Amino acid sequence: MKNNHNNCRICNKNIAPFMSFGEMPIANGFLSKDQFQNEYFFKMETAFCDTCKTFQLIDQPQPTKMFNENYPFFSSLSKYMQLHFEKFSEYILDNFISSKKDTFVIELGSNDGIMLKNFKNNNIKHLGIEPSTNVAKIAKDNGIETISKFFDENLAEEILSNYGKADAIFSANCICHIPNLNSVFRGVFKLLKDEGVFIYEDPYLGEMLKKTSYDQIYDEHVYIFSITSVKNIAERNGLELFDAERQITHGGSMRYMLAKKGSRKVSSNIHTFLKEEDNLKMNSINRFDIFKEQCEKSKKDLFDLLVKLKSQNKRVIGYGATSKSTTILNFSNIDENLIEYICDTTPLKQNKFSPGMHIPIKDYNNFKNNYPDYAVLFAWNHKKEIFDKEQDYIKKGGKWIHFIPEVSIEP
Ligand code: TYD
Repeated sequence: MKNNHNNCRICNKNIAPFMSFGEMPIANGFLSKDQFQNEYFFKMETAFCDTCKTFQLIDQPQPTKMFNENYPFFSSLSKYMQLHFEKFSEYILDNFISSKKDTFVIELGSNDGIMLKNFKNNNIKHLGIEPSTNVAKIAKDNGIETISKFFDENLAEEILSNYGKADAIFSANCICHIPNLNSVFRGVFKLLKDEGVFIYEDPYLGEMLKKTSYDQIYDEHVYIFSITSVKNIAERNGLELFDAERQITHGGSMRYMLAKKGSRKVSSNIHTFLKEEDNLKMNSINRFDIFKEQCEKSKKDLFDLLVKLKSQNKRVIGYGATSKSTTILNFSNIDENLIEYICDTTPLKQNKFSPGMHIPIKDYNNFKNNYPDYAVLFAWNHKKEIFDKEQDYIKKGGKWIHFIPEVSIEP
């Protein structure tokens, strides 16, 4: 969705891109050969609003191009994420739900029901909002009440009249996907009970800057939030950020806890985070000029390494066809010449090709049955789970290529 004259999506002030990543395809748009010709691309430029301090994409494809009946991301495929969502559910139940009776919770971006099943199992009235119909179907088939629509202020009103107000609205890896965020926050405000909470997790800007993990930037992530920006967005819409907690998921995330303004005591954590963000110059455009240089260096280092390994006739594959890898591959101009294939456990991605660069995506057994010399760890956020599983590859001399926080080889 083209932004109106490069105005900030939150506060409408004029913003200028500090960086272009070039033409990008849909990050989760794994495709077959006959779809190559009509592949959709958009110009991926990033900006930082000096007024409300929100990091954002200038342009974003129409949401229906990204979230539809072919969405290939199934949260429940990762064991670690299953566990994370169990703990996240417990956290909400223990801290914010006083009585399970008469409680109503809503999840925005409920995917295959990985989180809401923990509420369903506790007999708590719940509702999931999930626009990608294929993943929503899995949740519905498992008895999780789900609406397949995009959430905004209008949908909030519809939910309000059909279900009533909510005690808790939560979300993980979804709020940063939604361009019309003021409408979402206004919708949350309307739907929440006066003492209700709005809790969400998303990749954290501070981690992205610290690790130069620029692969967090792709079509779906129209925002990468900081404490400062969330505080500002909340304030514009009658809400208040009262607490926050770091999470290790998705390569470094933040859990934001919001409520209606004045309804809860603001934790000292917020003050500490705000100070830290200021100390790290995260609210200054100069920091993003440095980030740009770091991205350019990372791109060159990875490309040069792969060219060198190719000249040595080494076999290099990619491990994990993540959406994040779409940014790395397209920005760094890495194709099948440099990476033989990418292995992935998601059936919907297998036997397709990576968006833009068209590297084949293959079943995990291709890796298991014929180890390469090097594997580029695209699913770096699952390093522990993967390393635990791949002891044999490592024992047999297999090497990993990392690009976060900088390009390196292990062991
Ligand atoms: P993930 O990093 O969760 O998300 P994103 O797409 O948002 O960047 O995606 C992980 C991908 O890696 C997913 O396609 C599944 C795949 N994967 C494997 O192939 N093997 C594994 O052991 C794990 C943990 C993930």
